[in-house]
Amino acid sequence: MHPLLAMLALVTMACQPRSAEPDLARELAGAYPELVTPNGTVREFEIVADETEIALIDGEPLRVWAYNGTVPGPTLRLRLGETLRVRFTNRLPQETTIHWHGVRVPNAMDGVPNATQPPIAPGESFVYEFTPKDAGTFWFHPHVRSSEQVERGLYGLLIVEDAAPPPYSRDVTWILDDWLLGRDRQISPAFNTPHDLSHDGRWGNKITVNGRTDTQLQVATGERVRLRLLNASNGRIYVPDLAGLDAKIIAVDGLYTREPLPLGRFELAPGNRLDLDILISGGGRSLVVSDVFSSRVANPLARIEIDGAPRAAATFPTPARTKVPAWNGGLSMPVTHEFRLDARRGGRLGIEWTIDGKAFAGHEHTHAHDHAGLVLERGKWARLAFVNVSARLHPIHLHGMFFKVLARDGIAVDEGFFRDTVLIHGRESIDIGVVPLDTGEWMMHCHILEHAEAGMMTMISVRDGR
Ligand code: C2O
Ligand code: CU
Repeated sequence: MHPLLAMLALVTMACQPRSAEPDLARELAGAYPELVTPNGTVREFEIVADETEIALIDGEPLRVWAYNGTVPGPTLRLRLGETLRVRFTNRLPQETTIHWHGVRVPNAMDGVPNATQPPIAPGESFVYEFTPKDAGTFWFHPHVRSSEQVERGLYGLLIVEDAAPPPYSRDVTWILDDWLLGRDRQISPAFNTPHDLSHDGRWGNKITVNGRTDTQLQVATGERVRLRLLNASNGRIYVPDLAGLDAKIIAVDGLYTREPLPLGRFELAPGNRLDLDILISGGGRSLVVSDVFSSRVANPLARIEIDGAPRAAATFPTPARTKVPAWNGGLSMPVTHEFRLDARRGGRLGIEWTIDGKAFAGHEHTHAHDHAGLVLERGKWARLAFVNVSARLHPIHLHGMFFKVLARDGIAVDEGFFRDTVLIHGRESIDIGVVPLDTGEWMMHCHILEHAEAGMMTMISVRDGR
């Protein structure tokens, strides 16, 4: 370009009127619904949390805390438009609640103790009832002392099917978890240790898929499998390697992606879900699916056995969300709030993980409004920045809203999907865009549960503009 022309281009850019600001909230319109109309069908489930002993890892008796006596707990399934009603009873020796991770629920159903409901005391019951607004793969877990309660085995899947589910030959769920077992082959009762707190949480010495170390999927050539992955670990990150199979990402954190995406090196952080569309090819093979997060070891997760009579490859359009805003203009907008993620010595556990220099004082004794952090306006686009001052990992999770990553270390990205949890690496900065659609007090926290327990939680209050 001629230097004079370049100068001119610069001048025109600088003179762009403010009114040319993109209407980013409008770009969201139609990406996912604001409301849902219940169709009148109510799916009722009974869930009891209790201590129990089950044959789990390698069939050995393991003392766990479980929903309905199994780990993972029950998979709750319903169709979009249906209402979920869960009668929950707490038989644990501690207070608890259930949080419906990723589901846009009425605030009172969000399961955050003292903020959205009183904690459920041992022996008490509570009824959770809501109509999910989105189809997808979600999960539920306690929100009280979660670094202990989730680790002991309390979690389950909530699958909201599309009104007309795509005709996959199989719909398979793999829940990834790791366990820290002691020499007695039982769950190590030392929670929130100084080591776990000062590193990336509690990483176990035994990885399971659906509670087993020998999970297998038997399929035939030509089948098209929908594989739903959930990371229910306290701290461990997984990078699933599908052993050369033709696997595409079709949904992240529940919601469909804009188009099928190559699996690549997707970091499945605690809380994250990933739905894969896998076309099975090449018969008579046995494949090992592994986790390659660490460059040093590949952790075997499960096997896929391909045998049986081949079928004609299933052909149907891959489900996708046509509307996922690029929010290209997002980085030209001012930052609504910058969160600084850091740590310091002190507090009840010896180490505190802080957001903007504050450690959440713990759910048990403090009311959420004492912590009123950020206030956002319903329906308005906001840009949130996270600056990780620390060297550790922080998968940041927002309740009550989906968001989209705008930039990593200042470099614009368009991931092609929404999230409810994003992994922020040591010293990394991430910008996200969000349009909250539901009013209420929503929690934002690190999903490394030890970090959350040591203070890395805050509240985002979403209010109506007028
Ligand atoms: Cu799975 Cu508050 O989160
Ligand atoms: Cu963290």
